[in-house]
This record gives sequence, C-alpha cells and structure tokens, in this order.
Amino acid sequence: MEELRTFEASEKFKAEALVRDRSMYEAAAADRLAFWAEQASGLDWVEPWSEVLDWSDAPFARWFVDGKLNVSANCLDRHVANGLGDRVAYYFEGEPGDKRTITYAELFAEVQQAANALKDLGVKKGDRIAIYMPMIPELPVAMLACARIGAAHSVVFGGFSAASLSDRIIDAEAQVLITADGGYRRGAPSMLKGIVDDALQSTPTITDVLVVQRIGDAAEPVNMQEGRDHWWHDVVPGFSASCPPEVMDAEDLLYLLYTSGTTGKPKGIMHTTGGYLTQAAFTHKYVFDLHPETDIYWCAADIGWVTGHSYIVYGPLANGCTSLIYEGTPDTPTEERRTGDRAAWAKDRFWEIIANYGVTKLYTAPTAIRTFMKWGTQWPQGQDLSSLKVLGSVGEPINPEAWVWYHTYIGGGRCPIVDTWWQTETGAMMIAPLPAVTTLKPGSASGTLPGISAELVDDAGQPVGVPGGGYLTITEPWPSMLRGIWGDPQRYKDTYWSRFPGRYFAGDGAKFDADGDIWLLGRVDDVMNISGHRLSTTEIESALVDHPAVAEAAVVGRDDATTGQAISAFVILRGGVTASPELQAELRNHVATLISPIAKPADLAMVPELPKTRSGKIMRRLLRDMAEGRSIGDTTTLADPSIVPIIEEALNG
Ligand code: PRX
Repeated sequence: MEELRTFEASEKFKAEALVRDRSMYEAAAADRLAFWAEQASGLDWVEPWSEVLDWSDAPFARWFVDGKLNVSANCLDRHVANGLGDRVAYYFEGEPGDKRTITYAELFAEVQQAANALKDLGVKKGDRIAIYMPMIPELPVAMLACARIGAAHSVVFGGFSAASLSDRIIDAEAQVLITADGGYRRGAPSMLKGIVDDALQSTPTITDVLVVQRIGDAAEPVNMQEGRDHWWHDVVPGFSASCPPEVMDAEDLLYLLYTSGTTGKPKGIMHTTGGYLTQAAFTHKYVFDLHPETDIYWCAADIGWVTGHSYIVYGPLANGCTSLIYEGTPDTPTEERRTGDRAAWAKDRFWEIIANYGVTKLYTAPTAIRTFMKWGTQWPQGQDLSSLKVLGSVGEPINPEAWVWYHTYIGGGRCPIVDTWWQTETGAMMIAPLPAVTTLKPGSASGTLPGISAELVDDAGQPVGVPGGGYLTITEPWPSMLRGIWGDPQRYKDTYWSRFPGRYFAGDGAKFDADGDIWLLGRVDDVMNISGHRLSTTEIESALVDHPAVAEAAVVGRDDATTGQAISAFVILRGGVTASPELQAELRNHVATLISPIAKPADLAMVPELPKTRSGKIMRRLLRDMAEGRSIGDTTTLADPSIVPIIEEALNG
C-alpha cells in the first residue's frame, strides 16, 4: 500500500463544509465560555441560564446555571414543530434482514406513549430506569421516554452477564427495567430475558419489567412473571401519544452509564442535561460536517456504550439527522450463505448496508477496521461505497496501517477520517479533527476541538513541550464532562482530579509530534481496551479468584493485531487442585459468566508464582512482557527474581 503521510480534504469538500477555516478555534480560544454559550443557544431552552459555568465547587461543575430544558423535546418536538416530522430519524436494519423506517413524527409519538406507560408504572422525575436491550428501535425510544419524564436511564450493554446487570441495578437502585425477549446476533436469536430473570433474583428495587418482543415464536417462549413483567406491545400502544416534556434543570441527571475503572467495582458515570446535549450536538455536527437534509449517518457502535448514547441517540437526534441502526454483526449468514460454517458467511454486510441506504458518514472502531482488513479487500470492493463522505474512528488508537486501509478501501481515497478521542467520562468528543480544516495524519487524532483545553504533563505534573510525551490531562472544565460517580463523590475526586491537582487526568498517555499534533498511546493505568471495550484488570482478577480452584490471579492486556489488546490471565491454583486443560477452559468461562463473554481471557496460564515487588504489588509489566513473548527487562525490584524462569517455564510448557 502506498505510504500516506498527510491528507487534506478536496476543494469540493472544503467548499461545501460547515467549517472552512480556523475562525471557530480562534473564537473559542478568545472566550471559551462565550463560545460554549453560543453552542448552547442552538438548543431550545424553556428558561435561559444565568451563568455559563459555575466552577466554584471544583471539581463539581455546573454548566448553564438555572437554565431549563428537556432533552427529548430538543431531540423530537422542535423538529416536528419545524415541519420535519416526515424526515426519517432512524432506518432500522435487523440482522435477519427485516427493515423499519421511523420518521421524527413517529418517534415523537412512540416516545410519548412509552413515557406515559412509565408514568403509569409510577416512575417519577429523579427515578432511575435500567435498560438492557439489543440494538432495536425501542432502545432509543426507551431512553427518550425516560428523558421526557425526567427519569435517569442506566443502559447496560446487552452482552453483560446477569451478575453485571444486577450489580448495576442495585447500585443505581433502579425501579423499572426495560428489556426484550432477545435480539438477533450471528444468525440466531440471542436471548436476554432468561439473563434478566437471573439478575432480578437479587434486585429488591425493581418493581416492574417492560419486555419488547423481538424474537417471539422463533425461540422457546420466555417466562413472564405475573404482576412484574409486562409485554411492551400490550402496554405502550394503549397510552396517549401526548406527554408534555418535564421541565428539567440544566444540571438534572440525564443518565448513568457504568464503566470499568482501576478497581473491581464499576463506576456509575453521571451525565446531566444542558451541557451534555450542547457538546454532543456540537461535536456531532462539526466533526462529521453534518448536512442533516441530505446525510445518511451510521454509527456502528452499540447503544450500550457511550458512543451509542452520544452519537446514535442524543447528538444525531438533537441535530435532526437521519441515522441508521443495525442490529447484528458485520458477518451474518445471508440467505444464500446460511450455513453452519461461520467462516463461509458473507463478510460484506456493512458494505451492502452502506450501498443500499447511501450512507454518507460512517463511525466505527479500529478493531472492526482491522477485522475487515483480515477478511480482505474483495468484500468492500464488491459494493458501491461512493456515497461515503466522512469516516470516523473511536475507542482506541488507530494504527496508521488501519487508517490507510480504511481511507483507501472504504473511503475510496477521498474521505477524510476523523479519529475522535474521548471517554465515557468526557461524554462527547474532545480531541478530533474538523474534516475540512485539519491536515490529517494517519494515526494521529490531531488536536483538541474548539473550546477544549488539554496538556500533556510529566510525572511531576509539569507540561511537556513539543515534541514530547506524557500523561493526557484536561485543564479546563467542559460542558459534557461527568458530574461525578453515582453515590461516591470522593471516588470522583480521587480518580480523576488528584493525580495532578487542578487537572482532569484521563488515564491515557500521549505524545506531541513536532507539529504539536497529538498521538494517543493507550492507557497508562490498569484499564484494558479489548476491541474498544473497556475492562479493568482488577475486575477480571476478582472474577477468577471467585472460582474455588483459584488462590491468586493477575491479568494483563497484551498487544493483539486485531482486538488492540487481548486478555492474558495468570492464576495460582489452590493447594490440592491439579492443572488441566479442562480447568483452564472452565476458568475462562467462569469470567465470561460472571462479567461478559467480552471479558473472557484469550489465554490463561496456571503458574506456581506471580512476580511481586517487595511491597507485594504484582508487577504487571513483567507479565505483559512474558505474554508478548519479550525477554523481560529489569527484575531488580522483584522480591524474588528466581521465580521468573519458573513462570516462563509454566507459560511455555
Ligand atoms: O484509552 C482511551 C480510549 O478509550 C478510552 C475510553 O474508553 P470508553 O470510556 O469506553 O469510551 C470509548 C468511546 C469514547 C480512552 O481513555 N480511546 C477512545 N477513543 C480513542 C481512544 N484511544 C485512542 N484514540 C481514540 N480515538
């Protein structure tokens, strides 16, 4: 593949772009708060704010103080009132090939019916609602219905286990759960309701469950508990399609989203109303150079993660754009290839969807791109991808090879790639190019967006120069920042604001190149990034130690060509337990059952010892070196260097 060092959008692209020069950066730099106020004024407010930012109780921010608005009204009512009711909000493509088209007017009506149904179940402003669903249109409907009546949703990714679901429900004290019988994945029903039933055995706060029927007769009937479980289709359509939006304060809770940290307990990240929607809408519009009248936008993430919250639901709907929702995996058995052998399945489902719907903007993750590279160029080359205009990347660093492949084979050499760095905690994009303005470099996320201030610092918290490398910190509050960790304000301060006082520390390392462009280098803490999914080493270690055969466990993320990182586990068995391949499989499955299949270790070694420092801390760096087959460096800080060859022997034997 030819080497590509920089890329600029074509003159035609630039001429039609929303932002064509750096004046927006200059305006934001001159007066950051006025800049954000201008972005917020693009939303519909019931009452104006009195102050843009109150940072007097740092690190607890209040944006658009005293302002009142409703997120669902901004995503629906105002578009319908502006005559856009017939515009398509979502094209839905089910994995089996079933299709639905939902206009803004239809979405508006269904959200209000669902909101009335929730009210009828006793849900009030300030309550928490758990949502555990496949990628079907009722998922955004459920989220918007919560937002409409002022209840906070807590969406739990549909791939999580019963234990993970119940932990999150218990922590949030959620009252109602919205779910589905199941969804379609990899050519077959993947059932959720049984997992829900298990989870609800330990959740005293849930009084009612709304169940969408997605699978129906295609699988065994699901259990519906009398008095607790209600079919969505029996309940929701009977309610009036009129439910006035609750007037919310800019700082009222919009949602909780749990994410892995460096300890075993997931954190309920809190996002509020006015600032969150402002930055989600702003970034979605300018980073994708959105033209809502003509664009067909597709974010191929799952709504269960923050990317789906901000860039399938809130940003796109606030901007009145037409999006696509696809339920399944990129390789699915089509009619012609409905065989049992997954390797024989068609691997062009994404490209077929893009061609069929004329998708103009695509947002996906590097791990997906590397998988497509592995499958080969024949798949995209067999489809017409000429509608594409901008490609996005998110979730992990995109290696230059994947960038160039994406640019060449998906973008036809003409589409700018926006590599967007952000986090569950930041709520919206922070570091990303503007496609008509930024000179792109494969592998670099370029620089901060207008209104965002970041610095790289060294161990002592001193800013590093250009070029240079260090810890990525954010130096000024931003509108969509997390407002805290649910139920644990101290943990919020300790986790994000204490390592470098006065700075938000993101947990990532990065470097500036000679031009001052930022290159993300991955996590510097014990958080792993597996296929763009965030998992903590400690959480997986706890799951392993939960098994009666395991005395001690250590987990590291090692490099993997496709998934970015893969999980390598090291366990010490309890006395009297014998190592065997069966036990190895059982332990890996135990993690999948306790957390999620995405957390299942790729490899697991049963070792007699773990490398520890004299203070008893496991030296993960050494384990990572071993897992990646490198000769290990300095072992002088080990309490007992003689164990290294013993572990290596266990690994290789
Ligand atoms: O390490 C960074 C990586 O993903 C982490 C955030 O994970 P999560 O909260 O699950 O949100 C993912 C979707 C926004 C970050 O700390 N990350 C995210 N985007 C990028 C990235 N690393 C490099 N480049 C990116 N574009």
